[in-house]
Amino acid sequence: MPVETSYTLLKSLHVICALATLLLFIWRCRAVFSGRALSRRWLRHVPDSVDTLLLGSGVALLFVIGLSPLAGGWISVKLVAVFIYIVLGMVTLHFGRTMAIRRKAGAGALFVFAYILLLAHFKEVLPLAG
Ligand code: HEM
Repeated sequence: MPVETSYTLLKSLHVICALATLLLFIWRCRAVFSGRALSRRWLRHVPDSVDTLLLGSGVALLFVIGLSPLAGGWISVKLVAVFIYIVLGMVTLHFGRTMAIRRKAGAGALFVFAYILLLAHFKEVLPLAG
């Protein structure tokens, strides 16, 4: 398969998974904050598969475009931001001891997610700085 085709397919998969992971996170937050358990079994397992595809397609993209995660700049900052997003997401959905802590962690996770999207799109550490 030509490199351009693999790049386009991987990037499309990556962007679709990024959108899906955001929607699933918001959906799961709604369940947590309304005190409802996640009744549908798929809602507990699908997010893990989507996240795995998101990370996997991200790593594959790095190979295809020949970029090192340790190159510094936007890609290294993006990976640190992804780690922070995962930790905040776990506090929101699983480990926050009070609802107030979970709400703050959830707001923080959404904020970091928005920053990741800006980083990915503009490829600048301070995307809106001009
Ligand atoms: C919450 C997690 C992530 C989100 C929301 C996300 C989002 C995105 C988006 C929206 C794009 C397309 C940007 C554009 O062209 O406008 C993108 C591109 C990219 N992402 Fe991610 N990403 C995430 C995680 C990762 C991870 C973990 C890696 C690497 C291990 C990665 C590596 C890349 C690379 C290499 C590109 C392609 C850059 C290019 O050539 O345009 N991403 N990401």
